[in-house]
Amino acid sequence: MVAINVNVDGRSASHDVEPRLLLVHYLRDVLGKGGTPVGCDTSNCGACTVSLNGQSVKSCTVLAVQADGADVLTIEGLADTVDSDLHPVQEAFRECHGLQCGYCTPGMIMASVDLLKENPNPSEAEIREGLEGNLCRCTGYHNIVRAVQTAAAAMGSGVTA
Ligand code: FES
Ligand code: FES
Repeated sequence: MVAINVNVDGRSASHDVEPRLLLVHYLRDVLGKGGTPVGCDTSNCGACTVSLNGQSVKSCTVLAVQADGADVLTIEGLADTVDSDLHPVQEAFRECHGLQCGYCTPGMIMASVDLLKENPNPSEAEIREGLEGNLCRCTGYHNIVRAVQTAAAAMGSGVTA
């Protein structure tokens, strides 16, 4: 076992973990962060995307021990970063019906937040390219793209950051 200390959604957590434990399983099974789903076993779907020290990562591709000393933000802590019930990207997905079953949604939203941080006013092509690591089996992506465009407009207009 290896001792790790991770700040997750603004709270410090310390645990002894197996060196092989994946970050996604640490979040879900040790911390009870069920908002971050596992959608595949091939690192393809992106459903497990979280922010690790400000960069979106597929948490099934990171070991929990690699997050030692890091700041991790999951979908469950996202709204707290803007001190609101919903982050503007969450609000835009709701407004634009950017989800159906919702399984991909936490990862889509975390990846979209990262995309908009890098490029606050992306074109449709840039949104599609930026989210290509996140798969959705339901929506056909159209409303997801609209949601990201809506969020970009809201954030650009100073609704929140
Ligand atoms: S569960 Fe991580 S990419 Fe699918
Ligand atoms: S909403 Fe069902 S997988 Fe995307």
